[in-house]
Amino acid sequence: MNPVNVGLLGLGTVGGGTVNVLQRNAAEITRRAGRGIRVTHAAARNLAAPRICSTDGIRLTTDPFEVVRDPDVQIVAELIGGYEPARELVLEAIAHGKHVVTANKALIALHGNEIFAAAREQGVVVAFEAAVAGGIPIIKALREGLAANQIDWVAGIINGTGNFILTEMRDKGRDFADVLAEAQELGYAEADPTFDVEGIDAAHKLTILASIAFGIPLQFDRAYTEGITRITRDDVAYAEELGYRIKHLGVARRNGAGIELRVHPTLIPERRLLANVDGVMNAVLVMADAVGPTLYYGAGAGAEPTASSVVADLVEVTRALTSDPENRVPHLAFQPDAMADLPILPMEAIQSAYYLRLLAKDRPGTLADVTRILAERGISIEAILQKEPAESATDVPVIILTHCVREGEMDSAIASIEALDSIIAPVNRIRVETLDAR
Ligand code: HSE
Repeated sequence: MNPVNVGLLGLGTVGGGTVNVLQRNAAEITRRAGRGIRVTHAAARNLAAPRICSTDGIRLTTDPFEVVRDPDVQIVAELIGGYEPARELVLEAIAHGKHVVTANKALIALHGNEIFAAAREQGVVVAFEAAVAGGIPIIKALREGLAANQIDWVAGIINGTGNFILTEMRDKGRDFADVLAEAQELGYAEADPTFDVEGIDAAHKLTILASIAFGIPLQFDRAYTEGITRITRDDVAYAEELGYRIKHLGVARRNGAGIELRVHPTLIPERRLLANVDGVMNAVLVMADAVGPTLYYGAGAGAEPTASSVVADLVEVTRALTSDPENRVPHLAFQPDAMADLPILPMEAIQSAYYLRLLAKDRPGTLADVTRILAERGISIEAILQKEPAESATDVPVIILTHCVREGEMDSAIASIEALDSIIAPVNRIRVETLDAR
C-alpha cells in the first residue's frame, strides 16, 4: 500500500522531533500502521533557520495554507501552536477533507467544540494526544482504557515548566527567573511563559481532560486559574514541616452539584506519588469507580516525548483512513449527542481543605479570635503552627491547616480574619488536596 502523506505545519521543537521519530522508527511504525507514514510537505516561518531534523525529501514552504490545501497530503499535523492562524489552518484542512493531528492545547481548549463539529461534518478525525501532558498517552487512557468507568476526578501536574521551577526552588533554593530562563532554553516553556507560570497552559490541558473524563463540552472560559508566582520559600518550608509538598495542580472533580475545574498551587501529602513528581515531568492521577486510582507519569514536554504522541496519533489516523466515520472513537470520548449538561461550578462552591498563612501581632487573644472565626463557619482545624518572630520583629507567622470546607465559607472567614486588628497582612491561602477517594 502507498505510504500516507503528512503535511507538517511547523518545523520547530515538536515538528523536528516528529520528523526524526518518523524517520528513525519508520520500519516499526509501518509494521503498526500497515503502511508507511512520511512527511512530504512542511511549512516553516523561516526556511533558513537551524533545524534539529533533516528535511531531505520534504517540500518546504513559508505558506502554511499551501500545505493544508495540498491535494497529495492526507493528514495535516498542526505543530505551530497558538490560537491563530492555527484555528484557521485546521478548519481549512478539514474543509479540504484532511485529517488533522495537533499538539495545540490552546486551540483545542478554546476552539475544540467548533473544530470537532466541522470534522464530524466532513467525516475526518482530529487527534490531539500531544496537546495534554506531552508524551503521556493520557487522552487514549481516559477515552478508551477507562471507558468502563464513571470518572470521579482527575488531578494532574500538567505543566512541566511550572513543576521544574517549583522543584528547583525547593531543592536548590534557585531564583524563579533563573529557572524559568533555563526551562525556555530547554524548549519546555510556552512562547509566552506567563502561560506556564500563571497556569493558563495547565488550564488549557485540564479543560480537555475534564471534557473527556465527564463527557462535557470544552469550557476553558469557566476554568479557575491561579499561578505559582506568589508561592514563597517560607510556604514551601512550612508545607514540608507539616508533611506536604506544594505542586501546581489541575483538578477536575464531579462534586454532586456540578464540575470543579481549577488550576492552582496545592499542598499534597508528601507520601503521595504525585507529590514526588519532580522537575519537568508530568503526571495525571485519575480516580474512577471501577478501577480505583490510576496514575500516568512521563515527560510532559520536549521534542521527542511530544513527537511520541504526535506519531501515535498519525498511526491512529492512518488506520482510521479506511474506517467508517460513524464507528470511530468520538473526539471527546462520549457520543456528541450524549454530552452532559453539568455546570462548571464557581469557586465559592468548590470543596477543599486549606493552608492559611497569617502574619499576626504576638499578643494574647489573637489565635482565639482566629479560631473563633473559623469555628463560627464550621471550619475545623487540622493543625496549627506558630513560628518564632523574625529577629526584633513583633509579628509572628501562624500557619493553619483546615479540614475540607466549601470555599465560600473560607472566603468569608478570611475576610473576617483580615479585618482583625491583630492581623497585619493579607492571609496567604493555598488549597490542600489529600487525593484520597473523596
Ligand atoms: N509549556 C508546556 C509545559 C509545554 O511546560 O508543560 C508542554 O505543553
